[in-house]
Amino acid sequence: MDSTEDLFVSGLKHAYYTEQRLVDALEELEQTSSNEELRSGFAEHREETEVHIDRIEQVFEHLDADAEAEENPVVEGMIEAHEEFMGKDPGDEACDRFNIAAGQKSEHYEIATYGNLIPMADQLGMDDAADTLEETLREEQDELDTLSEMGEAFDYGKLEASG
Ligand SMILES: [Fe+2]
Ligand SMILES: [Fe+2]
Repeated sequence: MDSTEDLFVSGLKHAYYTEQRLVDALEELEQTSSNEELRSGFAEHREETEVHIDRIEQVFEHLDADAEAEENPVVEGMIEAHEEFMGKDPGDEACDRFNIAAGQKSEHYEIATYGNLIPMADQLGMDDAADTLEETLREEQDELDTLSEMGEAFDYGKLEASG
């Protein structure tokens, strides 16, 4: 695990695992949210996430390597935290607020992941791969912006009212 290519492939395997888990996680986020805008936002990003998986497969192809996923404890931890919260039987508003935050955290994580992979692809002379991953990065950033706006607009008064 010394070369840039080794690090790149290892990062790609973690990203592949992450995106696959996020397809299910986004469905969970949608199902446990009440706000319509939030629900449709998660559904939309779930579709984008399917494309993120395809793009990673394309990059594996560029590398002439089989697409392989490597378990990523970071995403497992986020999913666990979500399950734990939902297990406490929170009210609808609290669920929505928690889900906005969960979405923001996963987008930040993905942005860091792609922000790391893209310069490595550049340095490896894999311009096509860098461009492909750049498209995904932009979608993660857009999703983060959308969620952050919703988080900022969230009415915390509702939480107090519902106890
Ligand atoms: Fe993604
Ligand atoms: Fe994402």
